[in-house]
Amino acid sequence: YTAELDASDIEKGTYPHYMLKEIDEQPLVMRKIIQQYQGADNELHVDEDIVKAMNDSDRVYIIACGTSYHAGLVGKQFIETWAKVPVEVHVASEFSYNMPLLSEKPLFIFISQSGETADSRAVLVQIKELGHKALTITNVPGSTLSRESDYTLLLHAGPEIAVASTKAYTAQLAVLSILAAVTAQARGIKLDFDLMQELAIVANTMEVLCDDKEEMESIALQFLATTRNAFFIGRSVDYYVGLEGSLKLKEISYIQAEGFAGGELKHGTIALIENNTPVIALATQEHVNLSIRGNVKEVVARGANPCIISMKGLETEEDRYVIPKVHETLAPLAAVIPLQLISYYAALHRDCDVDKPRNLAKSVTVE
Ligand code: AGP
Repeated sequence: YTAELDASDIEKGTYPHYMLKEIDEQPLVMRKIIQQYQGADNELHVDEDIVKAMNDSDRVYIIACGTSYHAGLVGKQFIETWAKVPVEVHVASEFSYNMPLLSEKPLFIFISQSGETADSRAVLVQIKELGHKALTITNVPGSTLSRESDYTLLLHAGPEIAVASTKAYTAQLAVLSILAAVTAQARGIKLDFDLMQELAIVANTMEVLCDDKEEMESIALQFLATTRNAFFIGRSVDYYVGLEGSLKLKEISYIQAEGFAGGELKHGTIALIENNTPVIALATQEHVNLSIRGNVKEVVARGANPCIISMKGLETEEDRYVIPKVHETLAPLAAVIPLQLISYYAALHRDCDVDKPRNLAKSVTVE
């Protein structure tokens, strides 16, 4: 994977860390993806065979690990809402023991930044033996998963060097949204918005968020400078973004961080809330806005220190940060950026090795 690289792709330049550089590259990556998947005719362009495979399948099985798994959870929402194809999302390392009863015409989608993750590859080998088709969504052309799958969609995110995945996650979401939109089109379903236009708005919003680093640093200092633990809550897709935010925070800052569905707190987790426990709550979805705010009240009543991150139009005075408005279904692409930046600054102020956290490797090639 050298052909498209120039030196600036693999050097930090003036950045203190790769992670910060890669966070900042997200608006650019968004625009690159739009360019790659949109023809001069303004139509979406995805390989016909892939669209046919999606259209022919009666159920999609997404297989992935870590951040890529979190992208799969959001991708399920895109595909089911827009293209009306049922989707299951599985953690690769669990799939072989818990193999679900497969549908008649399954299509497997592997999501992997590196394309080398051993847990995902093990599932690919297994389902290929069963004679099923596989599509890999990856950042690395020619990677093992790409070579061994029937089809590949590229992320076009450029090399991601920091162990904590950032730009690959938002690229995965963008590519999954495009896949969902072309599948909808092929099935004769008309979407009431122009996806590429909405992704362009996302790119602009990402830029605004990336320019707001001082604010992100002050949030990190206010909530995460000395804490031992932190919770992320959300409902619907905000829950999935919370899972990603908590993974980001724990892997680079070593703060014990967990993501929960807002409604699930009262079934046990709320017992962990103490005086000053940071609870980062996402509120980007109108249909669950009131309920997530109700959950915030519950934790505040137990002493929590709440940090509400909402989306323009849904905000209230108590919110700590308001993200500019983007298309509601695409909100995860914007909402994750404050979480990435807050994690970055938390790790920085806790003197952690941001780019190379302990015990972790960029690509996990053992099962
Ligand atoms: C993300 O920040 C992690 N470092 C990790 O969870 C990663 O996403 C996972 O190992 C999957 O990697 P892949 O996308 O290369 O398959």
